[in-house]
Amino acid sequence: MEKFFSVADIDNLDLVVQEALSLKANPYSWRELGKNKTLGLVFLNPSLRTRLSTQKAAMSLGMDVMVINMDKEGWALETKDGVIMNGTTVEHIREAAAVMGEYCDILGLRSFPSLKDKVADYTEELFNKFVKFCGVPVVSLESATRHPLQSLTDLITIMEYKKMARPKVVLAWAPHVKALPQAVPNSFSEWMCKAQEQGLVDFTIAHPTGYELNDEFTAGARIVGDLDDALTAADFIYVKNWSSYHDYGQVHPVEGDWLMTNNKLALTNDAKVMHCLPVRRDLELSSEILDGPNSLVVKEAGNRVWAAQVVLKRMLESLKK
Ligand code: CP
Repeated sequence: MEKFFSVADIDNLDLVVQEALSLKANPYSWRELGKNKTLGLVFLNPSLRTRLSTQKAAMSLGMDVMVINMDKEGWALETKDGVIMNGTTVEHIREAAAVMGEYCDILGLRSFPSLKDKVADYTEELFNKFVKFCGVPVVSLESATRHPLQSLTDLITIMEYKKMARPKVVLAWAPHVKALPQAVPNSFSEWMCKAQEQGLVDFTIAHPTGYELNDEFTAGARIVGDLDDALTAADFIYVKNWSSYHDYGQVHPVEGDWLMTNNKLALTNDAKVMHCLPVRRDLELSSEILDGPNSLVVKEAGNRVWAAQVVLKRMLESLKK
């Protein structure tokens, strides 16, 4: 595997989940694979789970890991071509990425969208430049439009906790005070649509008017504007806020009550509730659910390790060829 950026980088979803769960059962059985290999993790934005789980996964594979928080520790990065760098940026991504590629066998990059320049965000300008100039395999630690390690984790968690062959999975929009990226819901949707194609889940998306995602990510999903309709007989609910895609990066007032509570949970098939975290309590998801027996959020975050480990393992195996 040369790059891990989207669901297109994985053919058989059931197979990758089984491989991840076998790593969960035997985390240290591949320690020789990563010996004398270095992973560099580059963060342009904050992280708790992605940073720690990917470091742990790499260490369990025997790799050495270096982390740089570019937003705080690196030189201010120029990402546009053809500019005279007489402003605040100090180093161009062309040199910065290439130098990091000299030090590392595999690199990871986190880069959030601007939510202002839709074209630059949705063409993944920054991520693609980093891949082009660093010259080594790259794993996305969340880019402008996708969060594939999170989505693989979510699939692993659903497969681990499901009680039937083809559970009903619902992506449910939730309120927030800030404009959040579409990366997590885009990514979750494209992974669930492919899982649906492969017979693993039934997938529904519920959101208020104005919060339609880019349909490149939702093809095959049932999409409804009525949360109660979506929740009926659901086995898993994935709660997440996102800002408008069409009115790019904007937050609009919504009609109805979109906060997930125990009352709403009563409509479901005793659904397990998921969220990528971090979550704002009683704004995006109720405390009664987060603290209750149906919440999977902490176990889900724990599974971030196995998603990262299976991806790094496949990348290391490609390096050996
Ligand atoms: N879910 C997730 O990516 O968490 P962090 O932003 O803390 O890495």
